[in-house]
Amino acid sequence: MSRKVTKAIFPVAGLGTRFLPATKSVPKEIMTLVDRPLVQYAIDEARAAGIKEFIFVTSRGKGALEDYFDHAPQLERELEAKGKDKLLKTLQDTNMDSGEIAYIRQHKALGLGHAIWCARRLIGNEPFAVMLPDDVIAADKPCLQQMVEAYEEVGGNMVAAMEVPADKASAYGILDVQEDMGSLVSVKGMVEKPAAGEAPSNLAVIGRYILSPQILQNLEDKQVGAGGEIQLTDAIAKQIGTEEGVYGFRFNGQRFDCGSKAGFLQATVSFGLSRDELRHDLEGYLHEVMSSRKAAQ
Ligand code: G1P
Repeated sequence: MSRKVTKAIFPVAGLGTRFLPATKSVPKEIMTLVDRPLVQYAIDEARAAGIKEFIFVTSRGKGALEDYFDHAPQLERELEAKGKDKLLKTLQDTNMDSGEIAYIRQHKALGLGHAIWCARRLIGNEPFAVMLPDDVIAADKPCLQQMVEAYEEVGGNMVAAMEVPADKASAYGILDVQEDMGSLVSVKGMVEKPAAGEAPSNLAVIGRYILSPQILQNLEDKQVGAGGEIQLTDAIAKQIGTEEGVYGFRFNGQRFDCGSKAGFLQATVSFGLSRDELRHDLEGYLHEVMSSRKAAQ
């Protein structure tokens, strides 16, 4: 099978309850980090890795997300007429070509594995990427691109991986490492959300995957796992010990958990500081806040 990865699935059907009341009317994925919706970071990363087809698994109430990917001809004309070329370019860079993007509905909230399975007919018999937009990764070379390059060498199934503190392991899929080769590890087991003290390691799965179509086959049996949901981790774990195998990939970069409020705020500050036009004022403000808090202690 070719190791060229051109399709990516973005599961975005979650309710985003951690961000209520905002998510009453705004899909979590278009909440804004500085001036770009969360999902735009994932799209840009996917494009940089050579992805050509973007498949969104959505649910009721995600209309604003679909609208976000539409062209905005009237806005473009107005910016053009006013000579606002930089803004126009920013806007046009977010445009999707017709047919590049597809939406599939996940009719029931049965878990991440089920969401991926919903997209099976759009994948066919080729490897594909999965990107969880909640995991935002700042990196010189985008994370998925790093993975695509590693995947071209080894094939199989690959998940992004990162060491997490032991007391946080039960919030993740955790890898049981067979052989540690540095950035690449081969995997002999995978556990979704292990109970406290039962994690086989502290190497956690982060929301970037390159998977063989066999994973979609594995999801056919709709096996219910952790939290009573159909888990992607379990479907990947079934490939351990097969010819394909499963690898963890320690990426270079900083991951923000934008599914949590603290992570979202940290990402906002970090991405703000990385912008030339914002850095000076934001730095000044952060210094001021920190010193007045210290003085008050
Ligand atoms: C999902 C996956 C989990 C992974 C995590 C990374 O969990 O099921 O294996 O470690 O994403 O963010 P969720 O955060 O959706 O509960």
